[in-house]
Amino acid sequence: MSDILLQADKLAVTYTSTRGPVVALQDLSTRLHQGEFLSVLGPSGCGKSTLLKVVAGLLRPSGGSVTLAGAPITGPRPDVGIVFQQPTLLPWQTVLDNVLLPVRTLGMDLAAGRDKAMQLLKLVGLDKFARHYPNELSGGMQQRVGIARGIIHDPTLLLMDEPFAALDAMTREHMMLELQRIWMATGKSVVFITHSIPEAVFLSDRIAVLSARPGRTIREVEIDLPRPRTLATMADPRFTEICNELRALFTDLVKFD
Ligand SMILES: Nc1ncnc2c1ncn2[C@@H]1O[C@H](COP(=O)(O)OP(=O)(O)OP(=O)(O)O)[C@@H](O)[C@H]1O
Ligand SMILES: [Mg+2]
Repeated sequence: MSDILLQADKLAVTYTSTRGPVVALQDLSTRLHQGEFLSVLGPSGCGKSTLLKVVAGLLRPSGGSVTLAGAPITGPRPDVGIVFQQPTLLPWQTVLDNVLLPVRTLGMDLAAGRDKAMQLLKLVGLDKFARHYPNELSGGMQQRVGIARGIIHDPTLLLMDEPFAALDAMTREHMMLELQRIWMATGKSVVFITHSIPEAVFLSDRIAVLSARPGRTIREVEIDLPRPRTLATMADPRFTEICNELRALFTDLVKFD
């Protein structure tokens, strides 16, 4: 299909460590369409962050291939934005300067970048905090700065590694709504890593479920809930039904030896 942005084929990653080789991913295949919101859901240690690092061009696969817009991924690219699990903001820089980091790194126009940064800070509800420093913000606010920084350079593809995992339940719900709003407003393609079933169901167009390590796609689930999804969506019987189906899958998956 021509609207495929990202394609992973039989992807394999083996880490070499002093304890011997660790096979993190094996035979993992999936795809992402233009403008799609894909969640990658899998048990802890199954290789989700490994997959994200490969797609971000930070890690070379040991086997298989990943292509972005038809071209192999050989290193970090300006058309990809990353939001890490921790906001990883520079504490000595203001919120505005933190958001501007990719603009500076990529040598983009700073004046235009500042305007864009202010627009994005408004979008994430933080325009009044542009001159503040990260330690003056709550965890959820810092995470929203991280999201603004992830999209300031207008990447085609946004990669998010459990960005809400460290947040409390209320902030998390608020951030899910916020992210849906940003995604609907900007039309980005998103790969969202999570181990939260309700989070994945709430946000996604499609969910790729990974097996326990070595990770490979064992199921792909289309989420047909209408948008925009609201907090009421989580009380919808269809929402509960999808969550329960996925939960049943994990009961068989998560077994520790
Ligand atoms: N640099 C490394 N060297 C050796 N093994 C590694 C390295 N990085 C990750 N691993 C191993 O690879 C496997 C997958 O790790 P990864 O971080 O991708 O899992 P994950 O699905 O993101 O887990 P979590 O949900 O806990 O974040 C794990 O068994 C981990 O111990
Ligand atoms: Mg991880």
